[in-house]
Amino acid sequence: MGLSLYFFAFVHIVFCFLLFHLIAVTASIQPLCHDDERSALLQFKDSLTLNKSASIDPSAYPKTASWKLEKENGDCCSWEGIKCNEDTGHVFSLDLASSFLYGSIHSDSTLFQLVHLEWLSLADNHFNHSKIPSEILNLSRLSHLNLSLSALSGNVLSHIPQLSKLVLLNLSNNSFSGTIPSSIGNLTKLLYLDLSVNNFFGELPASLGSIGVLEQLDVNTNNFSGQVPSSLGNLTQLKCLALSQNNFSVQHSRSMSFLARQTKLAWLDLQDINLIGDIPSWLMNLAQLTYLFFDNNKLTGPIPYWLGNLNQLALLSLKSNQITGHIPSQIWNLTHLTVLDLSSNNLSLHTSTSVTVLPKLVFIGLGSCNLNKFPNFLQSQDQLELLDLSSNNIAGQIPKWLLNVSTGSLEYLNVSYNLLTGFDQHPVVLPWIRLSILDLRFNKLQGPLPIPPVSTSHYLLSSNRLTGEISPWICKLNNLYSLDLSTNDLSGVLPECLGNKFHGIIPQTFVSATNLRMIDLSHNLLQGRIPRSLANCELLEFLDLGNNQITDIFPSWLETLPELKVLILQSNRFHGVIGEPETHFAFPKLHIIDLSHNRFTGKLPSKYFHCWNAIAIVNASQLTYMQDRPRDSPTYNHSLRYIYDFSITITNKGIEMEYRKVSNILKSIILSNNRFEGEIPAAITFLKGLNCLNLSNNNLQGGIPSSLGNLTALESLDLSNNMLSDNHLSGPIPVGKQFDTFENSSFDGNPGLCGKPLSKKCESSETSLNEDHQDSESPIQFGWKIVVIGYASGFIIGMMVGQIFTKRKHEWLAKTFGVQLKRSKRQRRQRN
Ligand SMILES: *[C@@H]1O[C@H](CO)[C@@H](O)[C@H](O)[C@H]1NC(C)=O
Ligand SMILES: *[C@@H]1O[C@H](CO)[C@@H](O)[C@H](O)[C@H]1NC(C)=O
Ligand SMILES: *[C@@H]1O[C@H](CO)[C@@H](O)[C@H](O)[C@H]1NC(C)=O
Ligand SMILES: *[C@@H]1O[C@H](CO)[C@@H](O)[C@H](O)[C@H]1NC(C)=O
Ligand SMILES: *[C@@H]1O[C@H](CO)[C@@H](O)[C@H](O)[C@H]1NC(C)=O
Ligand SMILES: *[C@@H]1O[C@H](CO)[C@@H](O)[C@H](O)[C@H]1NC(C)=O
Ligand SMILES: *[C@@H]1O[C@H](CO)[C@@H](O)[C@H](O)[C@H]1NC(C)=O
Ligand SMILES: *[C@@H]1O[C@H](CO)[C@@H](O)[C@H](O)[C@H]1NC(C)=O
Ligand SMILES: *[C@@H]1O[C@H](CO)[C@@H](O)[C@H](O)[C@H]1NC(C)=O
Repeated sequence: MGLSLYFFAFVHIVFCFLLFHLIAVTASIQPLCHDDERSALLQFKDSLTLNKSASIDPSAYPKTASWKLEKENGDCCSWEGIKCNEDTGHVFSLDLASSFLYGSIHSDSTLFQLVHLEWLSLADNHFNHSKIPSEILNLSRLSHLNLSLSALSGNVLSHIPQLSKLVLLNLSNNSFSGTIPSSIGNLTKLLYLDLSVNNFFGELPASLGSIGVLEQLDVNTNNFSGQVPSSLGNLTQLKCLALSQNNFSVQHSRSMSFLARQTKLAWLDLQDINLIGDIPSWLMNLAQLTYLFFDNNKLTGPIPYWLGNLNQLALLSLKSNQITGHIPSQIWNLTHLTVLDLSSNNLSLHTSTSVTVLPKLVFIGLGSCNLNKFPNFLQSQDQLELLDLSSNNIAGQIPKWLLNVSTGSLEYLNVSYNLLTGFDQHPVVLPWIRLSILDLRFNKLQGPLPIPPVSTSHYLLSSNRLTGEISPWICKLNNLYSLDLSTNDLSGVLPECLGNKFHGIIPQTFVSATNLRMIDLSHNLLQGRIPRSLANCELLEFLDLGNNQITDIFPSWLETLPELKVLILQSNRFHGVIGEPETHFAFPKLHIIDLSHNRFTGKLPSKYFHCWNAIAIVNASQLTYMQDRPRDSPTYNHSLRYIYDFSITITNKGIEMEYRKVSNILKSIILSNNRFEGEIPAAITFLKGLNCLNLSNNNLQGGIPSSLGNLTALESLDLSNNMLSDNHLSGPIPVGKQFDTFENSSFDGNPGLCGKPLSKKCESSETSLNEDHQDSESPIQFGWKIVVIGYASGFIIGMMVGQIFTKRKHEWLAKTFGVQLKRSKRQRRQRN
């Protein structure tokens, strides 16, 4: 979905379906139900189980739980979800939406014996991917069929067009598949058709145009292809049309001029459907148009002035096209406009409007719009909830007046990726009392941290030039979820209260501050020790304190954090022996630990290796990323899916590699550049899911355990610069695609090796081994074969550089891990 697709979705629903919700039948006298229908209902109930995870609606409850055969309760017409005809006593309406129903529906289901049904809703249950059997045709009187979100599958539409009395058909959010048969045109009474979010494919049949009464047609998010049929122009009663997110062939916006006849259209969603050309003039006819989405197409040309005549417009979203020019002043005549999203176009909004009376906007998206200053028209906006000005060229100080804009309503402010230098006074107390997300990353902000309101959940200020301390007010942000202050010049010690449960002014108010999911304070000048209070952050997934001057011992007190996945302490002043874990479940979800460039001593923490169960698992099943999805808040539910990828930096041969996304399959242990001694413990082989193991630059002794060969997911192994006894490898270097990409320094310290890329030639007796395994696209096999070959041929290569594949695999990596080669911090500073 586009960010704004569901903005005001509730209005959408109200607007389009109000009619159906008004169908209300009240029966004053309830006759006893028919025995056969009662037993059919009970058998249907018994064929399914109740399962709380089968429904997602928060108000779901098990409606069938009250269905019983007891004497005083035997009248099925009075059962929950059932309505009977007053005269005949037959069940005509069955509404079991959101009832925790779980199980399969078979063709012999007694549901299909309820032949008097006119109204059937089984939406928001889980039918275990059942197909809808042809027995559905027994229910020939159906006028209302709602099977949305019910885990049905198969090509249901092959039967349904024969249910000729249908007025409403909602099959959205299932995994149906198949094509729409042209017999759909037989449903001449249909007012409402929702097939959205499924896997339907093929062309939209022209016969849709013969359902002349259709008011709502929603096929968004499917795989429909071909051209949108011009017969849709016959649907002159349409109020809502959503065709977004399909694979329609490239089509000129003007070729859809058949829509000009749909003068009742209020909701038009044409996002992401391969449109080219200008903003089409046929829109002029759609005088009722209220919501217009054109996002993610390739529309060019200017924003036409006549859009200002569509005076019902409340939402105008043209995001991610190639629209040029200015915002025509006529747009400001749209007095109902609340949502304006023009982000990511080729607009040149250097100057801003001087119109005085403006619509009261709620949502303004002007990201990537070539803005060079804050638009003046913002000054009069006092109802804004969301303001996105990211990725522009706004330079200099943040003007004083911005701190007066919508102070009572603003929830989301994104001015990241600009050239802002700071606030014009200090200390800065941000005035927006409802602010949730503050994103000022990647600017040139100087001075101390601005103080956000307690409502803040995302406080994102990384990659600026902020100075001063992180003072204890940060601990009062009870709603804090993400704290990203990395890559600044912050100094001083971390407040000891960080992560403490904050007890409000009134002692009884136990407000929890433990919403914290991510803390990134890396690349600063922080000193002192890690606050012990962080042990309270039970939800913490990500902690990066790398590249600071923290002086502490290994934070074993964090081992009880059940969700911690990433722990990065590299390049600090950590010291001492890493002792033994206190429980068997120390760091149970850890994926990535980087302790490199510190002063740890003693043996490698083999007892900990036994606890790291997440690293012990090889799971390639589903690629997911560590992301931050804010808690549901009423506004963002509909308006904005704010997803913030966690990112990390791992050093590889002097090149800092930034993972813009951290995938669940990336599992790394980096303990290099410390003073660890003793042998590599055999316990390391417990960590079967490990992709990257770097023990270089320590004082490790003894042999390289051959059981390392059990680490079948390993892509990168660096044991160089230790005192390992059999690090003196000899023989020919395998020939093969991967090896050709190694620098010859990868083989340093192994004078016995010969062959490419080293200048030393091999004797003819030393036959080289062909490494002809193409590394597959599978992230797990990727790179491993080198290690296997190394063993098979009797020598081990001291250094394996999995990431060297970036050269050839850059695209794959970029896609999968969001890898970016990063300039060193110093270089970046100089660039700024
Ligand atoms: C409950 O339903 C879910 C699907 O929503 C299913 O995966 C799970 O196995 C079900 N549990 C039981 C006990 O049937
Ligand atoms: C769900 O479907 C599977 C496969 O068709 C079947 O084996 C299983 O018994 C079904 N479970 C229920 C609760 O109907
Ligand atoms: C159908 O069911 C879904 C899911 O419960 C619900 O959101 C929708 O309002 C229902 N009615 C119609 C007319 O689609
Ligand atoms: C349904 O439509 C098809 C063609 O689209 C037609 O052949 C068939 O007779 C129609 N069925 C009914 C029952 O009207
Ligand atoms: C659409 O309407 C035109 C005339 O108004 C008619 O000729 C055409 O057959 C109709 N198309 C469909 C698919 O009903
Ligand atoms: C819009 O900008 C993109 C990238 O900046 C550029 O490739 C494209 O040619 C521009 N399109 C127009 C119509 O100016
Ligand atoms: C291992 O770590 C050291 C220093 O931390 C680094 O220089 C080296 O490139 C790393 N090796 C690999 C293979 O990533
Ligand atoms: C690990 O590898 C060694 C030798 O390569 C083998 O003997 C042992 O069985 C393997 N252990 C496991 C747990 O797979
Ligand atoms: C590594 O390669 C360079 C040139 O690419 C060569 O001058 C140098 O001798 C090689 N080093 C070794 C150890 O073979």
